[in-house]
Amino acid sequence: MSDHVILTETVDRVGIIRLNRPKALNALNVEVITALVEAAETFQADPNIMAIVVTGNEKAFAAGADIKEMADKSFVEMHMADWSARWDRFTAIRLPIIAAVNGYALGGGCELAMMADIMVAGPKTQFGQPEINLGVIPGWGGSQRLTRAVGKAKAMDMVLTGRMMDGEEAERAGLVARLVEDDKVFDTAMEIAQTIAAKSRPVVMVAKEAVDAAFETTLSQGVLFERRTFHPLFALEDQKEGMDAFANKRKAQFKDC
Ligand code: HXC
Repeated sequence: MSDHVILTETVDRVGIIRLNRPKALNALNVEVITALVEAAETFQADPNIMAIVVTGNEKAFAAGADIKEMADKSFVEMHMADWSARWDRFTAIRLPIIAAVNGYALGGGCELAMMADIMVAGPKTQFGQPEINLGVIPGWGGSQRLTRAVGKAKAMDMVLTGRMMDGEEAERAGLVARLVEDDKVFDTAMEIAQTIAAKSRPVVMVAKEAVDAAFETTLSQGVLFERRTFHPLFALEDQKEGMDAFANKRKAQFKDC
C-alpha cells in the first residue's frame, strides 16, 4: 500500500485514513485514490475494525480531483481511466465511513465526503462543487449525491454557480450530520466511530445497507428489503445478547456473531 499520500492508523477498533498531500490541499490524484481505496479495503478485511474515519487537515479535507493531473487528458483517456470502478470499490465498503471535514471540501473532495455515511464538519468548513468554473461538471457523483442530500434548490445553486456552502449552511441543509467547533471535528468523528465500535459488526453492516437501500429503490421495496434483513438478525447471538442485556439492565457485550 502506498502510505505516504495517505496516513493510516488504527485506534482501538477504528481505522483512520488521513489524506496527506497538504501542499496540494489534498488534491485527489490517482495515487491518493488508489491508496485510499486499498486502505479502506484493508481495514474492512480486518475483523477487528468496526468503522473507518476519513479526514484531511485543518486547511483542506480535499480541494478536489487533481486538476493538474487531469488538465491535458483526452476524452478517451478520461473514459478509459474508469474512475467509477475505483469509487465503486470505495462505496462498496460495508463498514460505516465517517468523514471528518475541515477546510475545503471541493469538487471531488466534496464528492468523497458525500460517499461517507456520516459527515462531521465545523462552521469554517467549505463545501462546493466548483467544476463549472473549470469548464466541466461534477464527475464522481456530486450532481446526484448533493441533490439527494440538500435538494434541488441548493444543489442547482452550487453546481451552476460554483459557490461554496459553509459548515453551518451545510448542516442546516442536511449535508452534515454533526456541526461542531472546527477543532472538535476529528475528535467528534472518532467518538461516533467508537460508539459504533461497541455494537455488533454484522448488525452495523446490515443497518448501513438498509439505509443505503432507501436511495436505490421505491418505499415499498425498501420496506420489504428492511423486513427481509431484519428477521434474519434473530439468528444472531448478538440479537439474543442485546435483548437479554436490556432485560437484565446491563451493557451488551456483542461478539460479532
Ligand atoms: C491540483 C490543487 C487543487 C486541485 C489546490 N491545488 N487545489 N492542485 N488540483 N484541485 C494546489 C494549488 O495549485 C496550489 O499549488 C496549492 O494547492 C495551494 O492552493 P492555492 O490555490 O494557492 O490556495 P488558496 O489560494 O488558499 O486557494 C484555495 C482554493 C483553491 C480556493 C481551494 O486552491 C482552488 O480553487 N482549488 C481548486 C478547487 C477546485 O476547482 N476543485 C474541483 C476540481 S475538479 P501550488 O503548486 O501553486 O502551490 C473535480 C472533479 C471531480 O474535483 C471529478 C473528476 C472526474
